[in-house]
Amino acid sequence: SDKPIPVLTIDGPSGSGKGTVARIVAERLGWHLLDSGALYRAVGYAASMAGLDLSDSEAMTRCAETTKITFRDPKDGRETRVYVNSHDSTDDLRTETVGAVASAIAAIPSVRTALVDKQLSFRRTPGLVADGRDMGTVIFPDAGVKVFLTASAEERAKRRYKQLKDKGLNVTLASLLREIEARDARDAARPVAPLKPALDAVLIDSTGMPVDAVVDKVLSLIQPA
Ligand code: DC
Repeated sequence: SDKPIPVLTIDGPSGSGKGTVARIVAERLGWHLLDSGALYRAVGYAASMAGLDLSDSEAMTRCAETTKITFRDPKDGRETRVYVNSHDSTDDLRTETVGAVASAIAAIPSVRTALVDKQLSFRRTPGLVADGRDMGTVIFPDAGVKVFLTASAEERAKRRYKQLKDKGLNVTLASLLREIEARDARDAARPVAPLKPALDAVLIDSTGMPVDAVVDKVLSLIQPA
């Protein structure tokens, strides 16, 4: 059939809960999941490890073109592992440092272009849930349902703080709030694929909303097949 494979996009700033919501919604629907932020993080991480100059656009673009990034789901139902050049780098990719590097290199247009085909390749039957910053605006403009998930900066900083504390990482709430605000500003201000809702996106402000409620709201937007 020539019916397009359905896509649900969830875009929003860091800490809005889109990663968690996207994962649960994908599980419920039995659809594939694209964590596009992990791709930018993987490239940033690979570049840092190789000691490359992060302000060298050509080097960053080559790095985006050549870094091998694969996702693997452990059979025991535990979280997806991300391999960068065949090394399980899941934990390294989550640090604030790698997030900041990802945000910086994501502003380079040719880096974004280098990652387009990889992202499109996740669109497989029976469907895809894609989370990021430009899923609904640039990568999957024809997605049937687009969500823009947000929350106040304070709430997002608190969530990140809790996540990182749970992982035993040493951070302060104030520094996280500063980093989140700086990253939001950079992601929103870049000329290419800035963080902004698609015109046809449904806005959900998750401030004070439990994850379950957000998941139910997103699922309610999907028309039964
Ligand atoms: O979602 P995340 O925090 O893992 O993303 C890390 C950075 O990658 C984010 O600050 C901006 C960039 N990014 C992007 O530019 N486009 C995307 N679709 C996803 C992430």
